[in-house]
Amino acid sequence: MRADDAPATVFLKDYRPPNYWATKVKLSVDLDPDATVVTSLVSYRQTPGSPSTLSLRGKELTLLSVAIDGRALSLKDLKFSPEQLELENLPESFELELITKISPRQNLALEGLYLSHDQFYTQCEPEGFRRITYYLDRPDVMAEFETTILAPKGRLPVLLSNGNLMAKGQRSDGKHYAVWHDPFPKPSYLFALVAGDLSCISDQYETLSGRKVAVHIYVEKENIGKCGFAMDAIKRAMRWDEEVYGLEYDLDLFMVVAVSDFNMGAMENKGLNIFNSKYVLASPETATDTDFENILGVVGHEYFHNWSGNRVTLRDWFQLSLKEGLTVFRDQQFSADQGSAAVKRIGDVRALREQQFSEDSGPMAHPVRPDSYIEINNFYTATIYNKGAELIRMLQSLLGAEHFTKAVQLYFKKFDGQAATIEDFLQTMEESAAIDLKSFKLWYQQAGTPLISVKSSYDPKSKKLTLSLSQASGLKDQTYRPLPIPVRTALISKAGKALQVRQGKELAHEHLLLLREEKEDFVFEGVEEDALPSVFRSFSAPVRVERSISEADLFTLLAHETDAFNKYEAAQTIAQRMLELPESTPFPKPYKVAMQRLLSDREGDPRLLAMAIQPPSLDYLMQQEPAVNLDTLFTRRKRLVEHLALELKSELYDIYHRFHDRRGLGMDRSSIGRRELKNACLYLLAQRPDDELIKLAVTQYEEAHTMTDAVASLGALAPLSSPLRESSFQHFYQRWKRDPLVIDKWFAIQASSFHPEVLAQVKKLLAHPDFDIANPNRVYSVFRQFARANPFGFHHPSGEGYALVANYALKIDPNNPQVAAGLVNALSRYTRYDESRKNHMRSQLQKIMNQKPLSRDVFEVVSKSLSV
Ligand code: TRP
Ligand code: ZN
Repeated sequence: MRADDAPATVFLKDYRPPNYWATKVKLSVDLDPDATVVTSLVSYRQTPGSPSTLSLRGKELTLLSVAIDGRALSLKDLKFSPEQLELENLPESFELELITKISPRQNLALEGLYLSHDQFYTQCEPEGFRRITYYLDRPDVMAEFETTILAPKGRLPVLLSNGNLMAKGQRSDGKHYAVWHDPFPKPSYLFALVAGDLSCISDQYETLSGRKVAVHIYVEKENIGKCGFAMDAIKRAMRWDEEVYGLEYDLDLFMVVAVSDFNMGAMENKGLNIFNSKYVLASPETATDTDFENILGVVGHEYFHNWSGNRVTLRDWFQLSLKEGLTVFRDQQFSADQGSAAVKRIGDVRALREQQFSEDSGPMAHPVRPDSYIEINNFYTATIYNKGAELIRMLQSLLGAEHFTKAVQLYFKKFDGQAATIEDFLQTMEESAAIDLKSFKLWYQQAGTPLISVKSSYDPKSKKLTLSLSQASGLKDQTYRPLPIPVRTALISKAGKALQVRQGKELAHEHLLLLREEKEDFVFEGVEEDALPSVFRSFSAPVRVERSISEADLFTLLAHETDAFNKYEAAQTIAQRMLELPESTPFPKPYKVAMQRLLSDREGDPRLLAMAIQPPSLDYLMQQEPAVNLDTLFTRRKRLVEHLALELKSELYDIYHRFHDRRGLGMDRSSIGRRELKNACLYLLAQRPDDELIKLAVTQYEEAHTMTDAVASLGALAPLSSPLRESSFQHFYQRWKRDPLVIDKWFAIQASSFHPEVLAQVKKLLAHPDFDIANPNRVYSVFRQFARANPFGFHHPSGEGYALVANYALKIDPNNPQVAAGLVNALSRYTRYDESRKNHMRSQLQKIMNQKPLSRDVFEVVSKSLSV
């Protein structure tokens, strides 16, 4: 609905079961790009005691005919619009036949049935099914689906839907058909249909119980050579879920389809996952090491939804984190098990802090279980996904890993085939582990990132160390209720020793404390020497920490931490201290010494070292404080990275040359780690570019065998104004212009560079013939990078960066509201900046607000932003 007056808000407290339940759906879809005809035959059954009326949802539908139990109704006597169909005086149970006409070609929202490169795809979560036929497309309505697809065989040889293939054949009119049946009742958001001229690689997986599952990946023909890694990832995910949670795949066929035009990452449709092609297609020449990791994570994520989301689904969309938080947690566990758990954890925490913490302190802040929404598409957020996963992780800490796994298994058993709530999940945890989670539920209800303050004092006489913890609201004007916060803690002596100490009954190095009150003291006994608390190890709770600790003590922690995450954290905290120094104060000598010491460590994981030496990103630094002075921050960070590049030059070059493998195409863990570390060195060196560095980067570019090395060298060259920069970028474009996923990188590197002329460059990118406003990946490759990773361009004092984002959001909104709302979101946190930037941003939001009509998606973001 494109409303002129304010669109309605939906509230959790208004949840009611529907008047009727759909039990069986027989769909027949006669495909045509401009006029697809959908016949749906649905069995409905009344909820006892409910009115005998039914209101079905639609969107951009043309209704052709209606029949109840075989008797046609006259459309003249019916209340309907493209958005709604109202039926009255209905019997207790009946079969409703609807024939609707839709135009996939005109559907540019990439929701419902749409075209990408002349092939048909669907995206039904959350409310896309209503663009296919009038239906009760809410997640608690679960039905068995049978789908018949009809299409011209020549152009669309492959016809797919959920479940098992029951029949296929040829008709005399040149069309062929396929009939699919999904035996598992499901909400319509899990429905999928694909039709196209696609190639397939297939493999077989044998479950632990000995069942054979066929695994198929479908892609456009030219991509068939890039599916091997994804296939392997699917089989690894299947094995992992069996081994860790005892969960087997439940159909005989598992299909994955890659599509180039897709709003999000991927979609867990039952038996037929549909993926953004960037999370399927990869080869070492075209995909970076990070791309490979992301593919593993997303493949795992969608596969794990088969249980957390599909077999047990949601009662209503307010419960979204019930499936997403749990599934993100499961995919994080999976990736941690497949590689380095510490590296994975640091990466996840970085993403949480950059995306979720800033969301949680801005106008779009919402609890992990929201109370209301205007447009549910706006709630596929870092809070629902990533903070949701942190809540699950805390439950795992509180229950202990073993009890936790058992409790999750019980949850799947108890609610199999049902639409559940977050209460159902928590209650199962309580039952299974005999634990009281009443106060834990607050984590789902209270928005904002808690602020924890940490103090400690040591008494050498009693050999006791007291740790004083307190918690406070992360949001202003919030009536804060204290949350149960797990604080994983160890003591490191000031001489650098990992201490065994007593806390409560337990003698150990590491202790799990639970802060429940606003303020609490925890006493450690048998502490033989003065010590430093290492708190929130492995980031045991999604909080901000404020602690008074001297620089010298931070250096001790950096050198002697026994927790990989906190070692990284110490390095970051030190860098932040350095950033607090006024420009006239020289950086203290011990800083350089500590960094040199880090770099001389030859034992540790090179990836951990790579992360530790990178100074905090601007993005991260900007959301640390409620208000930031951007210009000061920019200059100070620049001074810091230049200092590191200069002072550590010989160490960085040394590591670079030791770890750079000129012939390197290795995809094993050790090669990936070495690549990451030497590219981190390259990045730091590039902060003070001289001829030697430029030559090094250009040589790396020219010799690169992997996309990782090519991208890293272009990233180092991107901020420079050198003819060598231009020629490298041009060469890259010419070489890869036929591979859209690689060209996305070409756009992204330029849009995120700290080049002094970045605004002009971004405008040039937007005018480039390969910029495609209808392709979300391409739009994100410019704007996500620009608005998130490039505050220097986005926050240009002229306000031009803001105007660019606003103008493109307005251009995109009539076609694809979901993508448009994503762009507008970048303007929402304007209150934290200086007057001039604030005004520029607000006036862009105002400009958007004045545009009519606006999608509900954009309306919600803009109105909430302007109301603070
Ligand atoms: N359920 C999907 C996931 O988390 C998310 C998703 C994919 C989605 N496509 C979407 C959400 C389109 C909203 C709209 O894996
Ligand atoms: Zn998901």
